[in-house]
Amino acid sequence: MSIVPYALTRPFLFGLDPERAHDLTIASLARLQNTPAQCLWQQARVDDPVTVAGLRFPNRIGLAAGLDKNGECIDGLGAMGFGFIEVGTVTPKAQPGNPKPRMFRLPQAEALINRLGFNNQGLTAFLAHVQRARTFRAAGGIVGLNIGKNAATPIEQAVDDYLIGLAGVYPHADYVAVNISSPNTKNLRALQSDAALDALLSALQARRLRLARTHRREVPLFVKIAPDLDEAQVGSIAQTLRKNGIDGVIATNTTIARDAVKGLRHADEAGGLSGRPVFAASNRVIRQLRGALGKAYPIIGVGGVMSAEDAQAKVTAGADLVQVYTGLIYRGPGLIPQVARALQQALLEETPGRPKSP
Ligand SMILES: Cc1cc2nc3c(=O)[nH]c(=O)nc-3n(C[C@H](O)[C@H](O)[C@H](O)COP(=O)(O)O)c2cc1C
Repeated sequence: MSIVPYALTRPFLFGLDPERAHDLTIASLARLQNTPAQCLWQQARVDDPVTVAGLRFPNRIGLAAGLDKNGECIDGLGAMGFGFIEVGTVTPKAQPGNPKPRMFRLPQAEALINRLGFNNQGLTAFLAHVQRARTFRAAGGIVGLNIGKNAATPIEQAVDDYLIGLAGVYPHADYVAVNISSPNTKNLRALQSDAALDALLSALQARRLRLARTHRREVPLFVKIAPDLDEAQVGSIAQTLRKNGIDGVIATNTTIARDAVKGLRHADEAGGLSGRPVFAASNRVIRQLRGALGKAYPIIGVGGVMSAEDAQAKVTAGADLVQVYTGLIYRGPGLIPQVARALQQALLEETPGRPKSP
């Protein structure tokens, strides 16, 4: 247990504008990580190692991309007990993102809507921060680096941005996540369609083979997809992932659907909806991916995990590992060991040949 209970911190943070609360938290973590003050939020990591895509994860609970977009507080976040931390999305060049306000809380639904638009300091600053992280990695924590495209890059040239991102992050990543599913960059999600996805992934795979030779290290490539896909689209993405030798899939990003939050304050804000309302859609996509990809293919499940039971449901749907973002905002860091222990327990109770729903 950390020294400061989240029940005390949350009312203060929720009294601030959401983005201000976020920025203050990140700045504090960046400043205080690896100092004696870290004991304020430090929690023992549940030891439940699992190997996925050739990587040894110390436990199954990770931080989803977007909370630490610039990779500034990997050690501070890692101290909360995560087995893995995904930072980014980083774009080749720094960019300011969309006009503010661009982040909204929907507390009755335990949800957020954001249209940040990949605000970030760019690849050079990102890599400098990532290289500064010490303690999390030294303790066996896994760091995923999530790449995207600049808003100003025409969608026809998107591949170039992803190739720049891949080459830049490759030597510093345990895995690379290719984000083609943010709703806040114009046309980005079009990269999930058949021909565009095949072209992107074959280019990335070719470059990855070269990078593996240069750096004498194979870094797994994961693709992050949206929840707003029907079964046929999920099936065809699954096929394209396999065809191009992609190592795993992260499902899912935020949703553009609003049915689950109709009538609530901020429900009509443009952007991606996260938290409880995306839970069911994300589980459906995970189930369909597992059905299409078979038992052994690595799947990271994310979307609406607010409790240990929710994380177990992700594993039942077919996820090997689970990530959280919005759950951390509403429930606080205590959620992390709760989830890690529940997943450890579920694993202990499993018979050989893990049960997976079809
Ligand atoms: C404020 C905010 C910013 C996000 N930024 C990113 C991002 O930069 N890259 C990305 O791949 N996902 C991003 N996401 C999506 C999350 O990583 C996650 O996939 C999604 O929120 C669903 O999980 P959750 O319900 O646990 O939040 C963001 C989510 C939120 C709430």
